[in-house]
Amino acid sequence: MSDRRKACVLVPIEDDLKAQIEAQCQVQYLDHTTPRDKLLAAISEIEGALVSPRIRADEALFEATPQLRVLATTSVGYDAFDIDSATRHGVVVCNTPGVLTAAVANLTMTLIFSLTLRLLDNENFVRSGGWARRETPPPLGHDIQGRTLGVVGYGRIGQEVTRRMQALGMKTLWYDVFDTPHPDAPESEYRSLDDLLAESDFVTLHTNLDESSRHLIGERELARMKPTAYLINTARGPLVDQPALVDALRAGRIAGAGLDVLESEPPDEDDPVFTLPNLVCLPHVGTATEETRRLMREHAVKNLLAVLAGEEPLTPVNPEALQNG
Ligand code: DGY
Repeated sequence: MSDRRKACVLVPIEDDLKAQIEAQCQVQYLDHTTPRDKLLAAISEIEGALVSPRIRADEALFEATPQLRVLATTSVGYDAFDIDSATRHGVVVCNTPGVLTAAVANLTMTLIFSLTLRLLDNENFVRSGGWARRETPPPLGHDIQGRTLGVVGYGRIGQEVTRRMQALGMKTLWYDVFDTPHPDAPESEYRSLDDLLAESDFVTLHTNLDESSRHLIGERELARMKPTAYLINTARGPLVDQPALVDALRAGRIAGAGLDVLESEPPDEDDPVFTLPNLVCLPHVGTATEETRRLMREHAVKNLLAVLAGEEPLTPVNPEALQNG
């Protein structure tokens, strides 16, 4: 009988990463479209799984996999997984912070510039022949220098966005559930969430999604924002009460929004967000570069193999589970 660990890979990965796992494990490859009952039956003996947030890891999954010790996701977000249940079952969940910070910061900046420079309106004006027909161009955009950026969630990504936008001349504020920033965080002014919303010209969300942050931005919070302000969300859709945002945008209670994430992904074809001229929406591409996605897969494989080899993983979400295992 093989003494190699049993692992299941539920995300597409390159051959060299498969070879790394196969050198240590007996591996089965499935994908997120596998029907749930078949999936649970197929993975009942595994000790490690490489997953993405498309796999729902809940009490039922942990009960069906009594040998499971590690769930390594190829994402920084872990809201798809029931962490309390994982900890109770002695399963360490590992994510991929750090390697995607620059990519998400790039996209956040891109959304800020898209909105303030009216990039999409201007591009559409050219593409639809308005420029060639010498029609009236879209209204002028605005500079960002001297304006205030409110960063909600002051972890790695929030700090990186702060550094970059300060370098471009913005004043920055931050809010988080803690009020003592990491020692390496850039100097920035702390505000309560209400004050940050009222003072900012751009509010950008970089916080985890959990029950305490679901609908962190709803009707009340949107009403605190300036009518000239923009909301940017490159974190998780359910941080924002989307119908309340749609109402605020329709009524012009805020100037616009840039969203890389929606409450329901993929959205319905008739989702009202697509009818709003003051909204830029992207299909959850914050980490979608070849280089960043490769780094995320490499990092997740390292986490998986470390735990299966009895070593400390790079980035456990619930390190206390290592004691329960
Ligand atoms: C992440 O890493 O959490 C990205 O949103 C992709 O899921």
